[in-house]
Parts: sequence; structure tokens; C-alpha cells
Amino acid sequence: MLNLSPDLLIARGYHRECYQHPEDKDRCVKIVVHGGTEETRREQAYYRLLEKRLGDWRGIARFHGNVDSNLGSGAVFDLIRDQDNSVSRTVSQYLENPELLPLHREGIIRALVKFRNYQLKNNIQTMSLKPWNFVYQLNHDTRGKIYLIDSLGNADFIPICSFSVFFGQRKIRRKWLKFIRLLEQHYPGSDSIQSFTCQLKTALTTG
Ligand SMILES: Nc1ncnc2c1ncn2[C@@H]1O[C@H](COP(=O)(O)OP(=O)(O)OP(=O)(O)O)[C@@H](O)[C@H]1O
Ligand SMILES: [Mg+2]
Repeated sequence: MLNLSPDLLIARGYHRECYQHPEDKDRCVKIVVHGGTEETRREQAYYRLLEKRLGDWRGIARFHGNVDSNLGSGAVFDLIRDQDNSVSRTVSQYLENPELLPLHREGIIRALVKFRNYQLKNNIQTMSLKPWNFVYQLNHDTRGKIYLIDSLGNADFIPICSFSVFFGQRKIRRKWLKFIRLLEQHYPGSDSIQSFTCQLKTALTTG
């Protein structure tokens, strides 16, 4: 049984707390602290489906099964770290940081378009896309990488998009249009984020 002490807490989302795995610095353990098990069930079902058919996992934090802990059952995932070993920041952390955003906006936009294209190519379905569910991994240069760390899955009653590339791609494109709208609505007062969003919208259309 793993002991997840408070000093191992990395971040907290709306539903889960994310802890550094006590025995592996490249993994994290997620504990549900709010809401039921439905989202966990859906996410893990989709990971099982991807395990059968996805060869290229480059943009996804992989799932490594469930473990018992002092805080209850935990789900183990890759923990995404930058080149300097610090835990990678989410896209929303970059957006909300006026010093970092200008330095990384081009890199983040390029990486988001690349991730969207990877998703289209491999028909990877998600729930709503949110900037706090992407992390941007910094490498030695300004060409970082985007990873999706949460919200993989498909909630449709008949999940045709998980199996049909045609319908799947249409749905992925719709999710990205909604992502743009979310950025516009979530940060209405920030000029730098609005111009980021505008540039991303263009890059997604042309890229
Ligand atoms: N694999 C990971 N690598 C790096 N950081 C992570 C990873 N997984 C989660 N985090 C950090 O922990 C936070 C919360 O994790 P997660 O998004 O899984 O929780 P959640 O409660 O399901 O989120 P939401 O609020 O979107 O429902 C993330 O926003 C991110 O800051
Ligand atoms: Mg999240």
C-alpha cells in the first residue's frame, strides 16, 4: 500500500488530487476527491481501448493501473516533467503567467497544432478540451511538447466516433472549435490571451 503524504501533492483539479508516486519520480497517483467513479470508469475504459489499437503514445500520459493507498484507490499515470526535472506546467499556467507567455506562445501554439494533428491521425477521442488538462513539456530549446493529462474518452451512448475515423475526426474538430470558444470566454479581459487564442485559431485552420 502506498503512503501518499501531503508533501507529495502536486496539484488538485476539480475531481482529483495528483500526487507524486512515492517510489517512481516519473509517475503520479490520482485520487478522486469529488464526485463519483463514473469519470474514472470512462477514462480507464478508453485507455483499455487505446492499448489495443494505438501504437504511437507520444502525446498522452499513459495509464499504469490502479493501486491501493492510504487515501483510497489511486490511478497511476506518467508524470510529465520538463528537461530540468520540474513537473511540466499546464497550458493554463502558461496563459496566466505574463512573464512566461510571451516566451512560449509560439512554441505552445505549434505544439497544440501538432497534438491536434496527432489526435486526428490516430482518432483519439476526448471529453471537452480544457487548458488545464494539457501540459506543455519544455525541452532544451523552445520546441516543447504537448501532452494530454486528463479527459481522454468518449461519453456517447453509442460511441461510433471511437471506431469510425470519419465521424471521429469530425468530432475532434468540433472539440477544438469549442476549445477556442472556451479560451475566448474564460479569459475575456486579457489581451495577451485573446491574441494567443486568435493566433491559435488561425494556426489550427491552416495547420
Ligand atoms: N500526468 C501529469 N503530469 C503532470 N501534471 C499532472 C499530470 N496529471 C495531472 N497533473 C496536474 O494535476 C492537476 C489535476 O489533475 P487532473 O487534471 O487529472 O484532475 P481532475 O480533477 O480530473 O481535473 P479537472 O478539474 O479537469 O476535472 C492537473 O491540472 C495538472 O496540474
Ligand atoms: Mg483535469
